Amino acid sequence: MESGPLPPRSSTENAESAGSAESAGSAESAPDIAARHIPVFLDRVGDLLMPALAGGAGPGPATVVDATLGLGGHLVNLLQAHPDLLAIGIDRDRQALALAGDRLAAAGLAGRVRLVHAVYDRIGEIIDADGPAGGVQGVLFDLGVSSLQLDSTERGFAYAQDAPLDMRMDPGSGPTAADVLNTYSATELTRVLRVYGEERFAARIAAAVIARRDRAPWLTSAPLVELVRDAIPAPARRTGGNPAKRTFQALRIEVNDELAVLARAIPAALDGLAVGGRLVVLSFHSLEDRIVKRAIDPATHSTTPLDLPVDLPERRPALRWLTRGAKAPTPQEIQANPRAASARLRAAERIREVAA
Ligand SMILES: C[S@@+](CC[C@H](N)C(=O)[O-])C[C@H]1O[C@@H](n2cnc3c(N)ncnc32)[C@H](O)[C@@H]1O
Repeated sequence: MESGPLPPRSSTENAESAGSAESAGSAESAPDIAARHIPVFLDRVGDLLMPALAGGAGPGPATVVDATLGLGGHLVNLLQAHPDLLAIGIDRDRQALALAGDRLAAAGLAGRVRLVHAVYDRIGEIIDADGPAGGVQGVLFDLGVSSLQLDSTERGFAYAQDAPLDMRMDPGSGPTAADVLNTYSATELTRVLRVYGEERFAARIAAAVIARRDRAPWLTSAPLVELVRDAIPAPARRTGGNPAKRTFQALRIEVNDELAVLARAIPAALDGLAVGGRLVVLSFHSLEDRIVKRAIDPATHSTTPLDLPVDLPERRPALRWLTRGAKAPTPQEIQANPRAASARLRAAERIREVAA
C-alpha cells in the first residue's frame, strides 16, 4: 500500500508525485481520457453524498474515500463541489492512479487528495492510517473496470480485439486469465463461468477450453471468442450480443477475486464511516448488488426482541437506507453513457456509533 499527502502520515505518494500517466504506460493525457469518460450516475452520487460532505463533519474538514478512483471523474466532481473536502483515492491499478493524479493536479485539486495503491478491502486500515479519528464522511465504490482498462487493448479486458489474456486490474500481481484457462480443472472452470458469468453453457465451454489447451496453451483472446461462439448452440449465438461477453466477465471476476474482495470491503467501509457518514455503491451486475445489499441491510433493522415494549438503544439500527431498492438509470442517463445501462445504485447512512 502506498499513500501520500494530505498532511503526511504514512505518505509515499500524492496526487502530484504519484508518477505521471506517461511513466505508467499511457500515451494519452489525463484530460484527453477524461473528456471521453462520463462517470456513471455523476449527479446522483454528488447529491447523495452532499449532506454528509457539506456539513456536520465535526471540527475538521470532511473526508471522502473514493475506493475505486479510476480516472477520478467522481472525485473531481466532489472536490469541486466542496472546497474544504479532503479525499483518499484508492485504486489497485497504478496506471489509473497516475492518470487520476495528473487530472487532479491539472484541476488544482492534488493537494487535497491522498492517493493509495491498494486493493479496496484494505479500506479499514487505510481510513485508520490516513482518515480522521472519528471516521470519514463519505465512501464511494464505482465497481468494475474503467473505460481506460477496457480501451487498453494490451490489458486483455475487451473481447473486440485480439489481445493477451491478462485481465488483471493490477498487472503486477496474481494469475492472469490465461493462467486460469491453462490450469483450472473442468469443474473449477465450469463453476467460474456459471457463477460469475451466469453462463448457461458453462460446462460445454469449459470442456472445449480444456480440449484446446491440450493442443496449445491459451495466450490471446481471439481464439477464446471463437471457441465460445462455436461451443454454444446456434440459436443462443443470435441473442444477447457477443456470446463471449459472459465468459470474459467471469474470467475478469475470477482473476481479480472481485466478489470476495467486495464482500470484505463493504463492512469495512461501513465501519469506517463517522455518524452521519454515507456510503454509495454503484454495482454492474446482480452478484455485486446482492453482496452490497446483504452487507448493509441487517444493520438497518432494530434487533430489539419483538416482545420488548421499547427499542433498546444498543440494538437500534446502525444504518439507514438512502435508496429504496437498487436504483436503475433513467433512459436519459443511459443515453448519455451506455455503460450506465447495467448500473445499480445503493446508498446508506450511518445513524449511530457501534461499539467495536
Ligand atoms: C469503474 S472504474 C471507476 C471510475 C471512476 N469512478 C471515475 O469516475 O473515473 C473502477 C476502478 O476501480 C478499480 N478497482 C476495481 N476493483 C478494485 C479493487 N478491488 N481494489 C481497488 N481498486 C479497484 C479499477 O482498477 C478501476 O480503475
